[in-house]
Amino acid sequence: MRILVTGGAGFIGSNLVDRLLADGHEVIVVDDLSSGGNRAARAEFHELDVRDPALAEAVGGAEVICHLAAQISVRNSVTDPLNDARVNIEGTLNVLEAARKGNVRKVVFASSVARYGRPPVIPVPGDTPARPMSPYAASKVSAEAYLSAYQGLYGIEYTTLVLSNVFGPRQSPGGEAGVVAIFTDALLGGRPTVLFGDGSQTRDYVYVDDVVDAFTRACGPRGNGGTFNIGTGVQTSDRALHGLIAAAAGVPDAPDLAPARLGDLPAMAVDPVPAFEGLGWQPGHDLASALKLTVDWVRNSQ
Ligand SMILES: NC(=O)c1ccc[n+]([C@@H]2O[C@H](COP(=O)([O-])OP(=O)(O)OC[C@H]3O[C@@H](n4cnc5c(N)ncnc54)[C@H](O)[C@@H]3O)[C@@H](O)[C@H]2O)c1
Repeated sequence: MRILVTGGAGFIGSNLVDRLLADGHEVIVVDDLSSGGNRAARAEFHELDVRDPALAEAVGGAEVICHLAAQISVRNSVTDPLNDARVNIEGTLNVLEAARKGNVRKVVFASSVARYGRPPVIPVPGDTPARPMSPYAASKVSAEAYLSAYQGLYGIEYTTLVLSNVFGPRQSPGGEAGVVAIFTDALLGGRPTVLFGDGSQTRDYVYVDDVVDAFTRACGPRGNGGTFNIGTGVQTSDRALHGLIAAAAGVPDAPDLAPARLGDLPAMAVDPVPAFEGLGWQPGHDLASALKLTVDWVRNSQ
């Protein structure tokens, strides 16, 4: 299959590109390199903004587009909501226009658990309505709505993957959300780490290879019109996560403590069972062994 990956030089996108190439697909990458810098040698590469009308030419016979290019910072979406909307909403719309012009069969979209806001039930059931509480979440939900509109108007199939906290090789420790990358980088570098509040805040950590597997499944015939949670359903506290990473790194588990940050969600995890029914997907890695793989990768790439 010929598959275009937007954001293919980023953390998740570059891991996806490697997997698609290994599976024997032809891959086209579109990325403006604004944050990602991982270029696979065997993929056709276009340095392009997803909002650029030239995207339609880059599509070049692709059957599927995996759309991952985005403004990914919740904090930046609050300080500059217009830029967030331009990249995430206008960018997705331009991807759909390129898909329409290029007779693309399907678009697979990277959404976020931020779409759920403060969900009443955890793990969040798959049919929970979106309730955005940040411009980033609102732009993701808006993009999801355009996928539905283009399916209805032009028959372009789509699958939305609602990603929980993804971690693994190539995640940047510079971001706000990549806590695994932040702790790993600091612990291996002998620098202090900080837990906010009492460390009891939980998140649902899913390994990037498992996320990539969900994308490859969604590129096939299954899951059309579906929105699937891609997580483990398991909550891990900041305190426990720090202990697991310290153990994998072979260093003392002694984080500093700082006051809780206003607005941080106390808990999050999503129910992945519908993704098993719709895509045949389930997470394949347990947290401790995937953290060990990640720590070893960071150590070897230093
Ligand atoms: N990492 C997570 O835990 C997580 C969780 C939920 C959702 N997501 C979503 O998954 C996708 C990938 O995230 P990631 O963690 O790999 O982030 P990333 O920043 O590593 O990758 C995003 C890529 O998009 C590119 N990009 C940004 N703006 C662009 C533009 N205007 N035109 C072209 N390219 C552009 C960047 O250069 C980068 O390579 C995003 O859509 C993000 O919202 C990620």
